[in-house]
Amino acid sequence: MTKVTELKSLIGTDGGLNVELTPFLDRNLPEPLYSQLYYWIRKEIEEGRLMPGVKMPSIRQLTIHLKVSRNTVEAAYQQLQSEGYLESVPKSGIWVANIEKPSQHYTKEEEHPIKLECKPSNEVLVDFEYGNVDFDKFPLKQWKKCLSDAVDHENDWLFQYSEKQGEFALRQEISNYLLQSRGVRSTPEQILITAGTQTSIELVCRLLSLQGETVAMEEPGYSGVRSVFKDQGCTIEPVPLDKDGLSVNHIHMSKPKAVYLTPSHQFPFGMVLPITKRLRLLNWAYQTGGYIIEDDYDGEFRYLGQPIPSLKSLDEEEKVIYLGTFSKSFLPSVRLSYIVCPPSLIVQYLRKFSSYNQSVSPIIQRAMAQFMQSGEFERHIRRMRKLYQKKHQTLLKSIEQYMGTKVKIVGEKSGLHILLKLKGITAIELIERGLKKGVKVYSPAMFWHHPSLESNSYIMLGFGGLSIEEIENGVRLLASCLPGNGKW
Ligand SMILES: Cc1ncc(COP(=O)(O)O)c(C=O)c1O
Repeated sequence: MTKVTELKSLIGTDGGLNVELTPFLDRNLPEPLYSQLYYWIRKEIEEGRLMPGVKMPSIRQLTIHLKVSRNTVEAAYQQLQSEGYLESVPKSGIWVANIEKPSQHYTKEEEHPIKLECKPSNEVLVDFEYGNVDFDKFPLKQWKKCLSDAVDHENDWLFQYSEKQGEFALRQEISNYLLQSRGVRSTPEQILITAGTQTSIELVCRLLSLQGETVAMEEPGYSGVRSVFKDQGCTIEPVPLDKDGLSVNHIHMSKPKAVYLTPSHQFPFGMVLPITKRLRLLNWAYQTGGYIIEDDYDGEFRYLGQPIPSLKSLDEEEKVIYLGTFSKSFLPSVRLSYIVCPPSLIVQYLRKFSSYNQSVSPIIQRAMAQFMQSGEFERHIRRMRKLYQKKHQTLLKSIEQYMGTKVKIVGEKSGLHILLKLKGITAIELIERGLKKGVKVYSPAMFWHHPSLESNSYIMLGFGGLSIEEIENGVRLLASCLPGNGKW
């Protein structure tokens, strides 16, 4: 036991050695806590600091000691048990198992999954990172022309600040575009230009005075937005998903002041909220005075069936705050997004934010306005929809061809990503195996407010920035990492 230096040890009443674990868990990392805990314990066992015959703290003890949720400890323990590192003995507890040879030894670079993702030992041939958009067919020449026109020295406005809500010309274009493509009726006066969805959420929190209030959001849901709600002092109420999206009945129970959701393409699962649920949600808002925050982040890209009008287009009492972004439809690097506010909130905005300047560069705003006015934006969307559809079809076909029934595809009708439900292998294992073959995939576990084993049974494949060949090749490589059989 001399090796067990960092771990306090004591003799348990049952004769085994009890330990108190003191891992460093970092809540600021994108990697879920259960995964950090899993890796930490696994390493302790593999490197001999936790030895066979040591009794692990109970789930309850460790939950209290580490101040984490029970789900976190349970998920880490279950994963370690299923891989043979820990053993559960009925009426006795959980023990470190007798591992003759560690199944794998990790080098310093590989020992932590985050490091693993940053510094793979093999060259990455195909990266299924979510958030990238196509660059081959991007109309760079036209966009450069708009940028160059915007910095033409004869423009008086170039030497001034932007309008506070954003450049009128851009708000006018967005208003026209939203009516045609998403059924949203708005005036330019209702639109606020923002520098990304997180900035939009921050502004909405302040407009609705959400600090200290409960906000409901989908479980799983977009972690980028969840972090902002948390930082703004909101209590998050995770609302479970049914097969067709948000379970609206749960909202009545949790009595939130606002609900944030992605109705046209649930993030990350991809389902579309049906009309009956949309109407029930609107009724909830009308009856309780609560607000609905609709994030329509990739509504442009739907490949099967009719385009889905936005939830905002059904709103008759101005209870939906509509958020849009150019990150998927155009470029993430322009950091350009917008809010369509109900008129009453614009009054609040003018009252509360009259001393704040606009944070998006007027050069980018003017260039975007010109790009839209000239019809380039619509052409770009049409071209991209076709292209992404082709990539999406290739992805689905390759999965069917190379993976067959070893995985299930989740959310296959729209957007720039899909999920794969795994069997017989966890996301963490598949990510590791994939990296060794040069294919990088990601776990969507961070999108769960309460991560569980379930959240580690999916991987996320973003395909927007990959070519058709890369998609095929990536799926083929990934398929070779899957186990032969497994139960659903
Ligand atoms: C659900 C959701 N909303 C919004 C965004 C876009 O955020 P931003 O406008 O900050 O680029 C993303 C991007 O990943 C997303 O997944």
